[in-house]
Amino acid sequence: MEVISGKELSAAMKKEMAEKVKKYAVEYGRVPNLVVVLLGEDPGSVSYVTGKTKAADEVGIKNSTITLSDKTTEEELLSLIHGLNEDKTVDGILVQLPLPKHIDENKVIETIAKDKDVDGFHPLNVAALWQKRPCILPCTPKGIIRLIKSKGIEISGKKAVVIGRSNIVGLPVAKLLLDENATVTITHSRTKNLAEVCAEADILVPALGKPKFVKKEMIKEGAVVIDVGVNRDPETGKLCGDVDFDECAPLTSYITKVPGGVGPMTIACLMENTIECYLHNVGAR
Ligand code: GUN
Repeated sequence: MEVISGKELSAAMKKEMAEKVKKYAVEYGRVPNLVVVLLGEDPGSVSYVTGKTKAADEVGIKNSTITLSDKTTEEELLSLIHGLNEDKTVDGILVQLPLPKHIDENKVIETIAKDKDVDGFHPLNVAALWQKRPCILPCTPKGIIRLIKSKGIEISGKKAVVIGRSNIVGLPVAKLLLDENATVTITHSRTKNLAEVCAEADILVPALGKPKFVKKEMIKEGAVVIDVGVNRDPETGKLCGDVDFDECAPLTSYITKVPGGVGPMTIACLMENTIECYLHNVGAR
């Protein structure tokens, strides 16, 4: 068993990006610029946003966070986004989800200019992904494929099982695994015999958001397990994944940890996406 460290891989990615950004700054006269919009003070969201801005600083990406009250109206938020869309010095726009209930998340996502949509959530980016056209890839799925490939693990022909069917992770990671020629099963809360289905997976990607849900019976000997969950362990209060690491890890060939696995890769891929949007914006691509 080997732990794939997202912390190490993301650090290497950030170092490489920092060097590129320095060169781009000379070539194009400015650095990439990411604007993060945060509504309210949900501790999870605040912590994600802090992680993103810290990474941007490390890479040399200019960044700012617009923090608004959770009472902000949909109209106000949409008008802010329109302004950022028009602003030629802004390369990437990220509105931290989830949004307060009175705001239509879909409306917000489709208002962000598709070429500044560093999350890859805009319907045009999603459609492009499903038709294998050039697009901005969503960060977490992109990071998951990077983690697997970093160890030279063959994906082609493998049985991959994804647990969860969210727009942010489950669906797009299934599509990326399919594009790598895996045979993909998407499972969810209504799946019958979930444990048996998972136990057939060469590559298992739990993304359901339930602490330590995946137990050893669900792991095939030698499987690759990429844990997307970010949960609080109800017993210890500590951060934990969807996988019961201690009992599952010995059965696997490769596994990621929470924290230090998928999370830092998501952020590194967000930096990559910001640089991609910037290169497009300055006319380099
Ligand atoms: N909330 C949880 N994950 C994400 C993400 O990847 N992007 C945004 N914008 N919000 C999130």
